[in-house]
Amino acid sequence: MKIVFATNNKHKLDEIRSILGSRFEILSLNDIGCYADIPETANTLEGNAIQKARYIVDNYGYDCFADDTGLEVSSLGGEPGVHSARYAEGTDHNSEANMQKLLRCLAGKDDRCAQFRTVICLARKEDVADYTLFEGIVKGTIAKEKQGTEGFGYDPIFVPEGYNESFAQLGMDIKNGISHRARAVEKLARYLVQ
Ligand code: IMP
Repeated sequence: MKIVFATNNKHKLDEIRSILGSRFEILSLNDIGCYADIPETANTLEGNAIQKARYIVDNYGYDCFADDTGLEVSSLGGEPGVHSARYAEGTDHNSEANMQKLLRCLAGKDDRCAQFRTVICLARKEDVADYTLFEGIVKGTIAKEKQGTEGFGYDPIFVPEGYNESFAQLGMDIKNGISHRARAVEKLARYLVQ
């Protein structure tokens, strides 16, 4: 069975292919000839995931799933959340600027609790306006300074619950076993193979 994952991110594609194994043929956006800038204008993770998955079903006629992730910091009312990629003004996916802004916003605050949350939306062509959502969460805290070099995004300042090191220090094997994305993907995989 063919299903599109609305991404061209090689890391995400490898991760999902290794979890779903040979039971599904996972196609990327490039694989189906989609080079469009898919709209991602909702103000929630759920809204963006639904928007992306439905766009592919409606315009390309494939079953599709799409993900959206945010880092939600308690003492900042859940920010940066859906704005995680562009948290620092005037930037897009500038991890260094995003982390520096977050560290500045948390300076002097005792509550440094945070969570990464991934939402995956599965949309199918036979369900005209329908979809199914899957959520994965990893709780943790924001460190006072960057630690470690592996990973991407906010990994150097996120310390998952039960560990004393950041995602960037723990490395990919440990991160992929406990991460928000892995947890959401596992739920999707269980649903798909039912
Ligand atoms: P996306 O929805 O996967 O593109 O994630 C949006 C933003 O959240 C990224 O640009 C990163 O800044 C951040 N992010 C998502 N997943 C992770 C992660 O596993 N580690 C660190 N940062 C992440």
